[in-house]
Amino acid sequence: MPIHEIRHPLIRHKLGLMRRADLSTKNFREMAQEIAALLTYEASKDLPLEPATIEGWSGSLNVEKLAGKKVTVVPILRAGIGMLDGVLSLIPGAKVSAVGIARNEETLQAQTYLERLVGQLDQRLALIVDPMLATGGSMVATIDLLKKAGCRNVRALVLVAAPEGIRAVEEHHPDVHIYTASIDSHLNEDGYIIPGLGDAGDRIFGTR
Ligand code: URA
Repeated sequence: MPIHEIRHPLIRHKLGLMRRADLSTKNFREMAQEIAALLTYEASKDLPLEPATIEGWSGSLNVEKLAGKKVTVVPILRAGIGMLDGVLSLIPGAKVSAVGIARNEETLQAQTYLERLVGQLDQRLALIVDPMLATGGSMVATIDLLKKAGCRNVRALVLVAAPEGIRAVEEHHPDVHIYTASIDSHLNEDGYIIPGLGDAGDRIFGTR
């Protein structure tokens, strides 16, 4: 099953705080980054290692290091920025590929307005970050463009996922694993996740 709901006590606690309507912007932001780091820990469990020989304090030593090209983190603008530092706190050498997606109000389709991808995507794991997986439109569009650019290994980190969004990703990209702190109930008529967090972008940037 490519959906992973990470029910770690620290995540449950932090998400519970984020659901409070009276949580300050500062605290909401901090929780988003911290949960992103915890999701990164889970999503990186099977990263390939290779042997290395180093000089340790007691002499030569065989250790392990991450193999291959560096990971790319893909924040979907704007709200994805709110999870970026959390991922980078665990994978500081990761490269960042920014993607901007907006809904075309006439066609209601997800439209890309920014695509700043790093090179050699065919050799990298891409970790897409977006706090809310709602309809899944932006996530599917982002996976589409990463795959078009040659990326073959894509994972998605989201704070909260709606069943509708999970179904959309599974339908279009069944190979993509989703890591989330919570699978919530449903979308309301305005496209908000219930119970959800409200508008995550507004809460991260303090624009509500
Ligand atoms: N985007 C948000 O910020 N919140 C939702 O509930 C759905 C989409």
